[in-house]
Amino acid sequence: MSHEIVEKNVGLMGVLIFIVISIGGLVEIVPLLFANQTTQPLKGVEPYPAIEFAGRDVYVSEGCYNCHSQQIRPFRAETERYGDYSRAGEFVYDRPFQWGSKRTGPDLARVGGRYTDQWHYVHLMNPRDVVPQSNMPAYPWLAERTVDGDALAGRMAAQRDRLGVPYSDEDIQAARELEDVTEMEALIAYLQGLGQYGEGQ
Ligand code: HEC
Repeated sequence: MSHEIVEKNVGLMGVLIFIVISIGGLVEIVPLLFANQTTQPLKGVEPYPAIEFAGRDVYVSEGCYNCHSQQIRPFRAETERYGDYSRAGEFVYDRPFQWGSKRTGPDLARVGGRYTDQWHYVHLMNPRDVVPQSNMPAYPWLAERTVDGDALAGRMAAQRDRLGVPYSDEDIQAARELEDVTEMEALIAYLQGLGQYGEGQ
């Protein structure tokens, strides 16, 4: 029996398993690469304006993703707590994406507009001032450091030239003009923009 041949030959079985899994994988993954739904921005999703782009860099460099995800799964427990579930088209300009895999703190995908700028300022200066039981670290130095507009403009230009993000010259010029903006202000602008993409929601 041919079945017996496969069962008694581990090498052959390995090859056949590989073929079957490859076909399964290709059928699931390849169509996603061509589906507009996963590669095109949702209506209202725009590239990050300079100040939010700067804030996003702060978010990454401070390692906020180690405790916060930005991806709401389509389960009731998640959508009731954090809001509408995340869609691929929201992350088209997120390079690299900040989905995260650890939730010591809450998901932040839709935190934009949930609190005032002042709340974020106090919270980032010392989380315990607004949430007494919080174990989130304080980030007081963000209020002292300022954004480097020229470096930022260079990074935005690289995203345009190498990755095709549709930034205009004015968008990039706006980055150079970000003088005296603190990392704190930039980070808060970024947080306030999360999940806010107009009518597409
Ligand atoms: C060690 C883990 C940890 C790190 C690192 C961390 N956080 Fe948090 N964060 C938490 C926890 C826990 C909470 C919930 C308690 C609270 O609100 O302080 C929280 C809450 C928040 C909230 C409020 C969310 C809501 O829906 O109420 C925001 C906004 C936030 N964090 C932003 C940040 C940012 C920005 C950074 C990086 C500068 C950061 N966090 C880094 C653990 C962390």
